[in-house]
Amino acid sequence: MSPGKVDSRSSYKIASIPADGIGPEVISAGITVLQKLADTLGTFDITFEHFDWSSDYYKKHGRYIPEGGLETLKKFDAILFGAVGAPDVPDHISLWGLRLAICQPFQQYANVRPTKVFKGTESPLRKCNVGDLDWVIIRENSEGEYAGQGGRSHVGKPWEVSTEVSIFTRHAVERLMNFAFETARSRPKKHITVVTKSNAQRNGLVMWDEVAAQVAAKFPDVHCDKMLVDAMTTRMVLKPESLDTIVATNLHADILSDLAAALAGSIGIAPTSNLDPTRENPSMFEPIHGSAFDITGKGIANPVATFWTASEMLAWLGEKEAARQLLDCVESVCEKGIVTQDLGGKSTTLEVTNAVCEEIEKVLGGRK
Ligand SMILES: NC(=O)c1ccc[n+]([C@@H]2O[C@H](COP(=O)([O-])OP(=O)(O)OC[C@H]3O[C@@H](n4cnc5c(N)ncnc54)[C@H](O)[C@@H]3O)[C@@H](O)[C@H]2O)c1
Repeated sequence: MSPGKVDSRSSYKIASIPADGIGPEVISAGITVLQKLADTLGTFDITFEHFDWSSDYYKKHGRYIPEGGLETLKKFDAILFGAVGAPDVPDHISLWGLRLAICQPFQQYANVRPTKVFKGTESPLRKCNVGDLDWVIIRENSEGEYAGQGGRSHVGKPWEVSTEVSIFTRHAVERLMNFAFETARSRPKKHITVVTKSNAQRNGLVMWDEVAAQVAAKFPDVHCDKMLVDAMTTRMVLKPESLDTIVATNLHADILSDLAAALAGSIGIAPTSNLDPTRENPSMFEPIHGSAFDITGKGIANPVATFWTASEMLAWLGEKEAARQLLDCVESVCEKGIVTQDLGGKSTTLEVTNAVCEEIEKVLGGRK
């Protein structure tokens, strides 16, 4: 910096929670690439503070998040999350103990899941090429089927009863629907598909349809159509090019987005953002995959989902150009065939990470 010149670079403080399984491997790769990008561009600073909240932490302390943990997280600009889940902890304990324990109190109500076929990767669909599948799924992330309402009586008895009650509030559906239509409007196709199961689920999801119709009226420039979730799976497989933005409930979108990731080539590519669009709380960014016990510690986890997640996080923080440049570099590396086994390649996590860092240096170096 020349003497007297004020450095106006933005600085971002990120809380990193790698957690379990391949989480630490992919988050470490993501941080390496983000730091390389920041150093190379010189237009923003990014620092990370690491939190060891995980299933190991739970086994030692009886909880995933220590006292005051959420207050600590509030001081950060964003949270970069790996995956939670361990073979010796029931999944509902780990999910509710860490991931949902952050998403729900922070009202990260919009879960954004983009999917596309990257250059250099192949969809398992015979006729689907780059550009034919380019979707963003908007998932309700604060209530619905994952509201945690319900209970169990007479546990273990033959007459045991359990209930899992879905909660749909007009408030939450409306704010989500507004966000989804805004997202659709921001994309070139300006097309949204509202997914429900309002034939069988005749209360909450009929209200979804009604709210969707009311919000649609405010967005005359966005073309809107409706699908039942079962029929939606066939449309995703048979006519991927007919879709763009998709909005669905917590459970439906959770399932559809794993299908979307597989149709784009691998679950190892897909990112997700848990957004609080009001920006009152930090938003949380994570690859959509879980802790992948079968490949943990082998050094072969695909880090691309975390790189794309990192790019989404940068865009949310306001670094749209850096986000685009990062994703372009990742896509170029895929195009060169430097990909992990899940995409049919032979490269390790480290080799893909190094290749992305080299690409950043080659393409963006010298721009400082
Ligand atoms: N957001 C989260 O934290 C989250 C999400 C899903 C699952 N989970 C948890 O993770 C654990 C395992 O769940 P699962 O097996 O259903 O799903 P998973 O996503 O961990 O794994 C499914 C399959 O995809 C493969 N895979 C996943 N990510 C990959 C990557 N980056 N590169 C290459 N291959 C990859 C795995 O090897 C596995 O064969 C469970 O405890 C579950 O509750 C956590």
